[in-house]
Formats: sequence, structure tokens, C-alpha cells
Amino acid sequence: MTKKADIGLIGLAVMGENLVLNMESHGYTVAVYNRSVEKVDKFVNGRGKGKNFIGAHSLEELVQNIERPRKVMMLVKAGQPVDDFIEKLIPLLDEGDVIIDGGNSHFPDTIRRTKYVESKGLLYIGTGVSGGEEGALKGPSMMPGGSPKAWPLVKDIFQSIAAKVDDGTPCCDWVGEDGAGHFVKMVHNGIEYGDMQLISEAYHLMRDYLKLSHDEMHDIFDLWNQGDLDSYLIEITRDIMGYRDENGEPLLEKILDAAGQKGTGKWTAISSLEVGVPLTLIGEAVYSRILSSQKEERLRAAQIIKAKVSQLDEEKEEFVNAIHDALFASKIVSYAQGYVLMREAAKENNWNLNYGGIALMWRGGCIIRSAFLGKIKDAFDHNPELENLILDSYFHDKLQAAQEGWRKVVSVAARIGIPVPTFSSALAYFDGYRTANLPANLLQAQRDYFGAHTYERVDKDRGEFFHTNWTGRGGDTASSTYQV
Ligand code: 6PG
Repeated sequence: MTKKADIGLIGLAVMGENLVLNMESHGYTVAVYNRSVEKVDKFVNGRGKGKNFIGAHSLEELVQNIERPRKVMMLVKAGQPVDDFIEKLIPLLDEGDVIIDGGNSHFPDTIRRTKYVESKGLLYIGTGVSGGEEGALKGPSMMPGGSPKAWPLVKDIFQSIAAKVDDGTPCCDWVGEDGAGHFVKMVHNGIEYGDMQLISEAYHLMRDYLKLSHDEMHDIFDLWNQGDLDSYLIEITRDIMGYRDENGEPLLEKILDAAGQKGTGKWTAISSLEVGVPLTLIGEAVYSRILSSQKEERLRAAQIIKAKVSQLDEEKEEFVNAIHDALFASKIVSYAQGYVLMREAAKENNWNLNYGGIALMWRGGCIIRSAFLGKIKDAFDHNPELENLILDSYFHDKLQAAQEGWRKVVSVAARIGIPVPTFSSALAYFDGYRTANLPANLLQAQRDYFGAHTYERVDKDRGEFFHTNWTGRGGDTASSTYQV
């Protein structure tokens, strides 16, 4: 009798193909199925030829060919297709079998699906898989969550195919119950949006203000990649700067400046509003993509609106260093905000997240991988209860050192009329967070003036609310106090 598969996979698009090739190269036999079944034969007789794959032409055949307890992983489009496959799989599986969703599902869906699948006697995992096609093949970062009992069943497979950091630790560990894995992957993607926008703002200043050539920018990103900013996204930006098309010209300048998005950044920003924490940098990164996509309207506006800007002439090398500092400082703020979001969402959803462990999972394999994440791991190892990354001594010292350049870049950008929404929103958060007295007393006074919404006083205990009859015309009745 031929050996049964260790795991089954549904969805042979590029990520699915690469992930099963990765599993097979680590000694696992994989049963594969795709809705358009001709893809199954094409794969088994193509990239999978001579390897330990079992091609299945139906879900029944797929399930029959997997060793018990069965593990069936879906890498299909997020949304309805995931629910449809779950419905089809449930009657084919037995108690204790595991359904795994490896797509970019929205975490509330994963919470719902975990409950539903568990109610049928099965186990469920929703796992983030990051690293693009190359990562899937050579070692992605994986962020699994769902039914805790499912983790020991998939741990060996997941950790063997995941990327490894220098000491061999896999960039994959159990994140937490129900939607925790997909939530952490969503925050990863939000941070990815932020990092990409920060780098784009640096490029905008270099190209349009400093008028640097693509070769010069290539060398700057190359240099930056050897220091504090050492990361995959800086590395690919360097390579993009160096890329020339068939005419020997930079391809970058021929690409339309209208960004696309699949929604994970938007979900992250929405989630921050729901739990009530500032995630301003990622929010700006999402809005920047939206504004960029309004290309025709911007072209019309560019004809009409002429900004009154000053012509400045900064010393080039010094200003490049200031842009570096603005990027680095803003990046610290972005991760600080992302981690606060995770902490608050964890409270709300009863997840026990390991923040250092998450940094380690992101340290290799994924799109936001960077040396910087090692420092975040150190910060949480040092203080697992760390309130805000900004308060950690390493990051605090780095912010202090970068502050001057950061402020200079934001002020120069404002004077010359180049938008730097993530640099400047990060600075506004930094200044707001470190300000003991914000003008919110005036907001409270206004709310109480027009709507009797009440206020607390600096000279009384917190929790005691007051109302003033500001005009002498209103009554003494205050509206009830509640917070959203
Ligand atoms: C990853 C990426 C990936 C994401 C793409 C596209 O971790 O490998 O985050 O999951 O889907 O980067 O995202 P947008 O189309 O929204 O830019």
C-alpha cells in the first residue's frame, strides 16, 4: 500500500504550489487538490514530477489520501470560498481532524469559523503566511491561531517549513486562540503598509527635492540597508532603484503612481478605531494609497492649485541623513502603535499574546523582516509588560538621537510642499504622547457648553463629573456619561 499524505492542500495557485513544494522538500508527502482539477495533473506532472505528491481530483479523494488525524490546508481566496470549502469538508472529515486556512482571512471570520468547526467535532487553524511566493517556497513566516488542540498536530510541519532566524529558531509559533493568528498577520500587513509608505516618502524627497539620480538613491538605500534600517523592504527598494528597462532607463519612473490594496491595511486601521488606540501612521499609509489612486482628479487639481512654497537648498548629504532619521524614528512609532493595538485587541478577545515571540516570528521570512525586530524582541524579553515601545530604553535613545533630523524633514517638507503624511503623523503622535497637558480640556469645555456632556477636573478625583451652566440659559441637567 502506498504511503498516505501527511497533509492535504486545497488551492494550487502560486502560493499553494510553492508551499507544498516546501513541505515536500522537508520530507512530507502532500495530497493536493484544486477546484479546476486540470491544475492538479499539470502540477503533479510538472513542478511536482517525481516528488512525493498525491494528486486528487475531488475533495473525497483528497481526504481519503491523508493520514489520520487528517490535516487539510486551504490556500484559497479570502471570503466566501473559505466558507464554501469548510461546508464541503465537514461531512468528509472525522472527529479530531484539522481544517487549516492559510489565506489572508479577516480575523473576525476566523473567530466565527473556529467556533463553527469546533461545534462539528473538528479542529480549526487560521494561519498567517507571509513572504510572498519566494517565502512560501523557501521559508515563510507563519502565524497560526485557532483550536489549541490542533497545534501539536501541525507544529512539526509548520516549524520545519518556516523561515529560521540565525540561531535556527523557526519564524512560526502558536499565536493564540481562534482569530489570534490572522489578527497578528493583519497587523503585520498594516505595518507593511506603513513601512512601504515611509520608504516612499523618503524617495519622494530624494527625487523631487534633492533631485538625486536613481544610481545615487540606489547607493543610499544600499548604505541604509547596512545599518539600523537593515530590512527586506529597504533591500528591494535598493534593487528597484537599480533596475533599468530595455531602454536602459529606470523602470520605476514608468510605473503609474496609483497604488492598489487588498484590504488588510484598511482592516488594521478599522480595528484600531474599534479598540480605541491611535494607529495614525498605518491609517495615513492607507489613506495615501487611496489618494494616490485618485490619479485623474489629482491631475486636474494640479492644474488649478499652486501651493505657496519656499525654495530651500539644504546641504544634500546632511539632508539625506535627516531623511534616514525621520524614516527610522517614524518606523519606531509605527511599530509602537502596532504593538499597542495588539495589546488592546488581545484584552478584548482574551488572547494571551507573546509580544517578543511575535517579533521573532516576523524576524525572518516575512515582508517586514528586519534587524529592527530583533530589538523589539529584546525589549519585550526585558519587560514583557512594556506599555509602549517608545518607553524602552533602546528605542527611546534612538528616538532622541533621530529627533532633530526628523523635525527638520517634516518642517522642510511642509515648506516645500512635498507631502510626508507618515513622517508627520508619527511626529504628531510622538509629541502628543510625551505631552503632559494636551488641549483636550478645551474639547471637554466645548462638549459641556453645547451638550452638557460634563467634564472631570484637575483638582478633583478621576471619575467625578461636573457640569457648568456656561451661558446661564441652560439648565443644570447633565447628559449621561458614557464612552465608546
Ligand atoms: C505577505 C503580504 C501579502 C499581501 C501582499 C499584498 O505578508 O506576504 O502581506 O500577504 O497580500 O503584500 O497586499 P496589498 O495588495 O494589500 O498591498
